[in-house]
Amino acid sequence: MSPHAAAVLSGLGAWLPPRVVDNFELSETLDTSDEWIRARTGIAERHVAEPGKSTVDMAVEAGRRALASAGAADVDFVLLATSTPDQPCPGSAPQVATALGLNGTAALDVNAVCSGFVYALATGAGLIAAGVASTVLVIGSDTFTTLVDPTDRGTVPIFGDGAGAVVLRAGHADEPGALGPFDLHSEGELAELLWVEAGGAKHRVSADKSDYFLAMQGTAVFRHACARMAESSRAVLAKAGWTVSDVDRFVGHQANVRILQAVAKTLGLPVDAVVSNIEKTGNTSAASIPLALADAVTGGSLVAGHRVLLSAFGAGLTWGSAVLRWPDVTPGA
Ligand code: COA
Repeated sequence: MSPHAAAVLSGLGAWLPPRVVDNFELSETLDTSDEWIRARTGIAERHVAEPGKSTVDMAVEAGRRALASAGAADVDFVLLATSTPDQPCPGSAPQVATALGLNGTAALDVNAVCSGFVYALATGAGLIAAGVASTVLVIGSDTFTTLVDPTDRGTVPIFGDGAGAVVLRAGHADEPGALGPFDLHSEGELAELLWVEAGGAKHRVSADKSDYFLAMQGTAVFRHACARMAESSRAVLAKAGWTVSDVDRFVGHQANVRILQAVAKTLGLPVDAVVSNIEKTGNTSAASIPLALADAVTGGSLVAGHRVLLSAFGAGLTWGSAVLRWPDVTPGA
């Protein structure tokens, strides 16, 4: 492994739990409707993990498929992007590594919520560039349906569960699949726009059950997501020396189809460059970008050679973007 090697995407995997909950089913227990949810978010249905199935279980499924896709045997680092680990402590990545037959391998959680996958890609690329690792399995897995208050119509319709993964290997910056540059940011003073009040070190136990669920100021989050993803996309394109017309596919975090459309409009990207699978998945947080990539490859709308812009936004606040030329990689079975 050479120092300062580029990280090259060489495998892709996706996993959605089998249970599908559509908007009609939600409207049986919540004061909402299929019409409202579709119009405001673009979501028709989402996958929900069965009770007892967890972030680790889904991460293992996606990770196994990504390893099969890459034909990779020797992974020397596992990164798990998640903000819904199976336990508050320890991180879940070591359990994922062991379940994949990678016991003994370095394993670390990355918690940047819905930006987690882009942050974990950057972390993996950094580990490869520094010579710390030569093959990194990067998984995004989240079980957000466990984090939303089942009585809150403001959050329940938006989120779903799932996992997606990629394999990064050391390679050359001019190869298809070489990742980067990246553009990453955070703004902690706005953390309360989207957070869980209790269960952490500051407020371990609360008498109010709602403190354990996600509280979201939706309209403010919407506004920040549109502005920050557009800003960051422009920044990463400038770093890469690409113009907007160089972008064949825009794979943004799937939070709301209106956010994706607004970002594309601000950037001047054509509608058919926007990749979206949110109608069938909802917002799967750290899993959303690899799930969207896998869906687009399977559907034939993302093919080898396409120049891809990735951009994400999430709680924290966090946001970031990256570019790559899509390699000849298809999701593993
Ligand atoms: N069903 C029906 N009506 C609902 C509803 C639901 N599920 N949720 C809210 N409403 C109502 C509101 O009460 C409000 O009614 P009012 O006009 O009588 O007061 C109306 O719909 C509009 O609500 P508002 O919150 O202003 O809607 P919106 O257009 O901002 O859409 C979100 C709400 C949550 C879909 C939107 O703000 C959003 O997507 N925000 C970003 C969330 C996100 O992406 N979070 C994760 C970031 S990684």
